[in-house]
Amino acid sequence: MSSLTNKHILLGVSGSIAAYKAPDVVRRLQDLGAKVRVILTQGGAQFITELSLQAISKNKVHDNLWDKEAELSMGHIELAKWADAILIAPASANTIANLASGKACDLLSSVILASDCPILIAPAMNQQMYASDGVKANLSTLSKRNITLIQGEEGEQACGDIGEGRLAESGEIAKQVGLIFQSTKLSGKKILITLGATMEPIDPVRYITNHSSGKMGSALADACIEAGAQVTLVHGNISIALNQKATSISATTAEKMYQSVIDNISKQDIFIACAAVSDYSSKNIEKNKIKKSGKNLILELTPSKDILKEVCQLDKKPICIGFAAETQNLVENAKNKLKNKGCDAIILNDVSKDDSGFKSDENEVIFIDQKGSVKLPKNSKQKLGRKIIEIIGDKFL
Ligand SMILES: Cc1cc2nc3c(=O)[nH]c(=O)nc-3n(C[C@H](O)[C@H](O)[C@H](O)COP(=O)(O)O)c2cc1C
Repeated sequence: MSSLTNKHILLGVSGSIAAYKAPDVVRRLQDLGAKVRVILTQGGAQFITELSLQAISKNKVHDNLWDKEAELSMGHIELAKWADAILIAPASANTIANLASGKACDLLSSVILASDCPILIAPAMNQQMYASDGVKANLSTLSKRNITLIQGEEGEQACGDIGEGRLAESGEIAKQVGLIFQSTKLSGKKILITLGATMEPIDPVRYITNHSSGKMGSALADACIEAGAQVTLVHGNISIALNQKATSISATTAEKMYQSVIDNISKQDIFIACAAVSDYSSKNIEKNKIKKSGKNLILELTPSKDILKEVCQLDKKPICIGFAAETQNLVENAKNKLKNKGCDAIILNDVSKDDSGFKSDENEVIFIDQKGSVKLPKNSKQKLGRKIIEIIGDKFL
């Protein structure tokens, strides 16, 4: 079975002269077993007809954000949900700029913003345009957002110039889309990830919490899902939307998170403890709001259950990966955590920096296991998530 069998590929065709090759891209995707639907931009429609793409894809071509009938059922959201991957081939400089600036100015850019599936772009333009600072900067922005770039080829162009910027061969484009779905060591594995911050109440309106946003755990979940795993997310307070392909369980306190993990752990192959769980909870939660008295207030805190340690001690324990958020003696503390908890690896986060770790979209970590450590330099959490999952697969599966 090829890697695109029954996969839903949404193909965006934008206004490059190379749009005349789009029907061939559709055919090559279909050769690999994909079901293809097409969004044609206004620019794209100058170079290839809707009818050709409809005939080849055997589906209605979508070309209008303001299609009243389609939008009766929220057409652009439906398209975003239908897609397992979105490919833009050819991707014009203008469409690339729309994506880089997060615009929703036409059907294609709106669908891209509304989707949570992998996105690939195959640029095609004149070599001078391709080499321009503007296009380069936009492509770099997209790559940081984990959009896969299918490099343009070098060669003779429609305008007669010779250089980089030609659309990659259709077969190569289809192959690269297929690579996204290739079975990995994580295919079919069950993975439970905790993420976000716990909130420990002290009275009906106040709680003790931390700065965790859940972004790192969410990026790990995306990477696991991309790699074919079945993901369960036990989350505290988070500031991001979670991948809809995961099963999500809300657990806002350390105790609830512990219980949700224990209730769901028996079937799991891998456990990743990424949540920032409060080490202490208030011994007594006041029934009524604590009133200002002008005097010192002493809260008695009791240690919360150590979720990672408890899972590591289970008879039938999954592969256990913990996160260590440290501000001092980083490596030493992380190695101690690895030993004390009995887990298989610790991912060390320096949370003393403003531009990585908590809340930030970027992070830099050190992956530490019994055999040594691997430093993963600063990158988007999405890219780090993929790298971490790759390392877990290579080391433990
Ligand atoms: C004859 C002609 C050829 C063009 N070829 C390209 C091209 O190969 N790549 C590109 O990025 N833009 C090209 N353009 C410019 C785009 O078509 C233009 O920026 C358009 O607004 C893109 O719209 P879209 O991104 O919404 O599809 C070309 C324009 C013309 C008139």
